[in-house]
Amino acid sequence: MRPLEGRVAIVTGAAQGIGRAIAVKLAEQGAELVLVDQKVSSETAEEIGRRTMSLVVDVSSDDGWARMAKDVDQEHGRVDIVVNNAAYYPHALLEDLTFDIWHRTIAVNLDACFLSAKYFIPMMRKRTWGRMVNISSNSIGTNSKGMSHYMASKMGILGFTRGLANEVADDGITVNAVLPAITNTAATAGMPEEARRSVWQQQAIQRFAEPMDIAGPVAFLCGNDAAFITGQSIVADGGMYKIS
Ligand SMILES: NC(=O)c1ccc[n+]([C@@H]2O[C@H](COP(=O)([O-])OP(=O)(O)OC[C@H]3O[C@@H](n4cnc5c(N)ncnc54)[C@H](O)[C@@H]3O)[C@@H](O)[C@H]2O)c1
Repeated sequence: MRPLEGRVAIVTGAAQGIGRAIAVKLAEQGAELVLVDQKVSSETAEEIGRRTMSLVVDVSSDDGWARMAKDVDQEHGRVDIVVNNAAYYPHALLEDLTFDIWHRTIAVNLDACFLSAKYFIPMMRKRTWGRMVNISSNSIGTNSKGMSHYMASKMGILGFTRGLANEVADDGITVNAVLPAITNTAATAGMPEEARRSVWQQQAIQRFAEPMDIAGPVAFLCGNDAAFITGQSIVADGGMYKIS
């Protein structure tokens, strides 16, 4: 089953973690991958094992997206799928939360979604087919402390997703968000076992999430079978939330 055969997919934050799993999953389903990260996505490219395009770009940069659009257009002449996954997530209680941290968080997590749409929705419109999936976080519904800036950015992603979905629906383009649980990546590597357990014990599915648990729903949203799903927020958190 290669439902994404012939599709060109951009995944940001593809060098590791959830982004790497998403890129591998989309490649398994037949997509040609453009791996975007602030560092080289060599391990992801190696795991995919066939030709990929790897770009080193800061996703908060307008110039970076402009360069990316030019390079991808030159190489592929099209883009069908964009997964906005790269993120900045420093812990900072209000007393430590500087304006710089606030701006950087919004820029990497939310501005990037807007910029990706500005540069790549026109290419999707030309072919009247497209998929955008924006990675939010189930933390927006938890009692996490020190993450207000991050939660604001991840909640903003849902607003942008809904609004953009309305604008592009007539062009055969869907825009959705996926909200992962706390997942086993570098982001959570420092969590003590006890803290991990206290997370998954709140879930219906009693284990810690792995990156591939998130990649599956993303891949589904990128396929033809999800053509009638748009503007939605899909929670992939083992059943911690009961209402999304
Ligand atoms: N891991 C979790 O527990 C968890 C939970 C909920 C949501 N999420 C979300 O899932 C996504 C992936 O998380 P992860 O745990 O795999 O993170 P990660 O830190 O392991 O990987 C993020 C990747 O994004 C890249 N990146 C960061 N800033 C960038 C920038 N400005 N430009 C380009 N690339 C940049 C990093 O280099 C890295 O390779 C994020 O959107 C995160 O908010 C993660």
